[in-house]
Amino acid sequence: MKHQLFGLLALFCLSFNLSGQEGHNLLINAYNRPSTSLNGNWHYIVDPYENGYYNYRYEPFDQQDNPSPNAYFTNTKAKSPSDLIEYDFDLSDTIQVPGDWNTQKEKLYYYEGTIWYKRSFDYVKSKDSNRVFVYFGAANYKTEVYLNGQKLGVHMGGFTPFNFEVTNLLKEKDNFLVVKMDNKRTKEGVPTLNTDWWNYGGITRDVKLIETPSTFIRDYFIHLDKQDNGLIVGEVQLEGSSINNQTVSIQIPELKLQTIVTTDASGKAQFKMKSKKISYWSPKNPKLYQVRLITDTEQLQDQIGFRSISTQNENILLNGEPIFLKGISLHEESPITKGRANTVEDAKKVLDWIKEMGGNYVRLAHYPHNEHIVRLADEMGILVWEENPVYWTIQWKNPETFNNAANQLEEMIFRDKNRASVIIWSMANETPVSEARNQFLSELIEKARFLDPTRLISAALEQSNSKNDPNIKIIDDPMAELVDVLSFNQYMGWYVGTPEICRDIQWNITQNKPVIISEFGGGAKQGLHGDKSTRWTEEYQEFLYQENLEMLSKIKQLRGMSPWILVDFRSPRRPLPKIQDDYNRKGLISEDGTKKKAFWVLKEYYDSMK
Ligand code: GCU
Repeated sequence: MKHQLFGLLALFCLSFNLSGQEGHNLLINAYNRPSTSLNGNWHYIVDPYENGYYNYRYEPFDQQDNPSPNAYFTNTKAKSPSDLIEYDFDLSDTIQVPGDWNTQKEKLYYYEGTIWYKRSFDYVKSKDSNRVFVYFGAANYKTEVYLNGQKLGVHMGGFTPFNFEVTNLLKEKDNFLVVKMDNKRTKEGVPTLNTDWWNYGGITRDVKLIETPSTFIRDYFIHLDKQDNGLIVGEVQLEGSSINNQTVSIQIPELKLQTIVTTDASGKAQFKMKSKKISYWSPKNPKLYQVRLITDTEQLQDQIGFRSISTQNENILLNGEPIFLKGISLHEESPITKGRANTVEDAKKVLDWIKEMGGNYVRLAHYPHNEHIVRLADEMGILVWEENPVYWTIQWKNPETFNNAANQLEEMIFRDKNRASVIIWSMANETPVSEARNQFLSELIEKARFLDPTRLISAALEQSNSKNDPNIKIIDDPMAELVDVLSFNQYMGWYVGTPEICRDIQWNITQNKPVIISEFGGGAKQGLHGDKSTRWTEEYQEFLYQENLEMLSKIKQLRGMSPWILVDFRSPRRPLPKIQDDYNRKGLISEDGTKKKAFWVLKEYYDSMK
């Protein structure tokens, strides 16, 4: 049934990606809108028993008509000496936003649960009729937001943006924004209970107040036409009191392009602009154009690159030319603060390392990273794989889990659909084949193609042994038929044998598709040296890379790779003292920024591909 329904919807909306049926009301291009940052020091209260949310009968305060003053979101103060109030944000410690709590407060290093945040602020709108939204770049995991004691809403998922309208709740003075963060892992969650990364909790990305006119540009999608790379096409979506029959001017000054369109009753309009002068975006030429969208009441601008991405048999074609993705995988950890990354500086450091490595591609694993790194990849010319955090064994049969995964996918695509650097949407990582899982992933793929028919679809699959000979590796995952790029993780020489085993392995890949090795690698403690058969030494990791690169180069469909991983990263699954100490050591660079021997092996391999 869902299949036919989707088929019908896809037919109806193919011409119009801006479906308008989204589960969210996100604002596109949040970083180029008039806004007021709420970053900085916020007061916080650690609440493992959710005492500020439930009464002693475990009934939620925010379901009560007149919430008790014990509800932390009321931010109630004792008004007289006899008043009984047992919390006070303003007397409580503060913590940095954006940022995870685990690396800011030693007592919160392992903490998983609820922490309340409070931020007070004054705010005067620049125009009475304007609307105001509170925007979060992301917050892990379940976020409940209250303004001046009123609940704004809930967001599930730790890695995508969300915003709530606050126009009618704002006061000029003494507003208090209270956020209940809960990073508890759950069976039905996305991701679920088990991950090989640290479950950083908190308001991990920027928070800002965004002000718009009463009618504003909520969304747009601008890209090259799939059939004609001399044609720039797009859609724009207005929201507000008067969206029908509005004129929108779309301008690309550097290309001397302008078109004026009129919205329909639903506030949408499509446009096309022809040009023979487009300088196509690529790693060698990361050309971004300033694009302006202008209505009677608003002017929005963005920096957009124009490029086409497609596959043809076993080739990946960028602007019609075959390309090899010289990449590396990356977790969203700051080489500066050693916690969740969330700044341009964090992004610059790691993307510079990729450039230094001779790379042109990065796999942002296993969840959407912050917008800064994607926009910087646009500027620096680094191709990007973005992934939805459907990781290992989530609840495939649980409709709530599906809606959650689908919503996170939609928010990821919504935020970054205008980024030229992003070429691949990945649906999942290392998920076990089953009927329910296949159904789940195929519906996510259909949704991704419906929301964005311009990019490639993939997923990090797993390899299998052929029935006759365990040294012959095959990909027999049914998802291999549905994806555009066949990607899989393999750990020959680390989880499977020692590096020499690569010499006995044959890859019998029958699919006529480009192949990307989404992961391979092994651990090494930086500075630990010894013979190449001793695990954890830099020599073992170096040898493992030499053998794997030799082996993988024999795959005729090989068109890219993102070895695991650029930098050592924190994981609760890695306790080995004096070696791991809560770090996964498969990085080519230590968490202190020191390169290991294998870094140079990969660089030499990529440099040899000029
Ligand atoms: C897996 C997984 C990663 C993990 C890596 C490892 O393949 O996708 O998240 O960190 O292997 O074991 O190091």
